[in-house]
Amino acid sequence: MSESGVRTLTDTFGRIHNNLRISVTDRCNIRCFYCMPADDVQFLPREDLLTFEEIERVVRIGVSLGINRLRLTGGEPLVRRDLPILVRKLAQIPGILDIGLTTNGILLAEQAQQLRDAGLRRLNISLDALDPEVFRRVTRRDGYEKVLEGIEAARAAGFSPIKLNAVSVRGLTEDQIVPFGQLARETHTIVRFIEFMPLDADSQWQREKVLFAHEILERLQAAFGPLRPIESAVAEDSMAADSGSLLESQKPSQARASLLPIVADSKAPAQDFEFLDGRGRIGLIASVSQPFCRSCNRFRITADGKLRNCLFSLEETDIRPLLRGVAEDEAIAQAMLASIVAKKEGHEINTAKFLQPDRPMYSIGG
Ligand code: 5AD
Ligand code: SF4
Repeated sequence: MSESGVRTLTDTFGRIHNNLRISVTDRCNIRCFYCMPADDVQFLPREDLLTFEEIERVVRIGVSLGINRLRLTGGEPLVRRDLPILVRKLAQIPGILDIGLTTNGILLAEQAQQLRDAGLRRLNISLDALDPEVFRRVTRRDGYEKVLEGIEAARAAGFSPIKLNAVSVRGLTEDQIVPFGQLARETHTIVRFIEFMPLDADSQWQREKVLFAHEILERLQAAFGPLRPIESAVAEDSMAADSGSLLESQKPSQARASLLPIVADSKAPAQDFEFLDGRGRIGLIASVSQPFCRSCNRFRITADGKLRNCLFSLEETDIRPLLRGVAEDEAIAQAMLASIVAKKEGHEINTAKFLQPDRPMYSIGG
């Protein structure tokens, strides 16, 4: 409860949650190795997915508890039929200030304009490689050309700037960093490099495979010259939780120190940088080397109606029975409040006691 008597989703560490990430499906049309198994994925039966009406109800109740920003995720959200209808419904809820979407872009060419018209304002497109062969190795599917078409359609529909999410994996996408830097410099595109997190279905994650944010920064600087931090990165549309400064990066070297950011936006998982000559911007999401749990403002609901207070939480709260039973809104509000109160201080990837959640990324929602 805030001083004004309005209830908020405040946890025991004082973090206020105003940002709800809604997974609309666990299905996907590609198979990124850091998220899904290669084959034989067990998807949820359709009847287990929350309906648009159920999602709308959850959001309205969330708004009464201070939620004002939404992001639609998956799986791949664009495989959910009639998604623009949901966007329109959510955009009309009083109190919602912002709706974003994270997509792999494969179906975007068909839907970008409809989504824009429905009220979607922010779009993140996941693309880990500019080389089609590397794209195929990461996603284990074709589709690179379709993503490029999707990006162009998004531009044409008025999404600006275009933001790309690129998961960086040592030994796999390292040689894509400089081409992405080039793209950021030549087009109105912000490329955000994300450290590989232990949320894959096949438990292939190893610390050695994480290409750390400071290494990415070094490679970009070696190729293009100095980058300078942009202090108030509007980065709430990126994937994970919240932010700290890369200044506290795990092993800062002398050479790097002067180029690292001095101030980071308190809620931004991405630390954004621009090239000193003013041409191009990039972002770094150091989810592993520099966890941003301290200022996390994110709450999640899975496609089958489970509340999750963290990407990495091992517990979740199933509110689908409440939504499908006779529960009043207040019972659902109580479930949300209780889930937030149970939120832990942060993920423990960097400790020996870290346990990977049972649900891989596609079934949580990014
Ligand atoms: N580590 C880091 N990022 C991931 N994503 C999916 N799985 C992982 C992972 N294991 C990213 C996707 C997408 C966003 C939703 O999360 O690439 O951009
Ligand atoms: Fe699909 Fe996204 Fe998972 Fe890739 S990361 S397999 S695009 S849900």
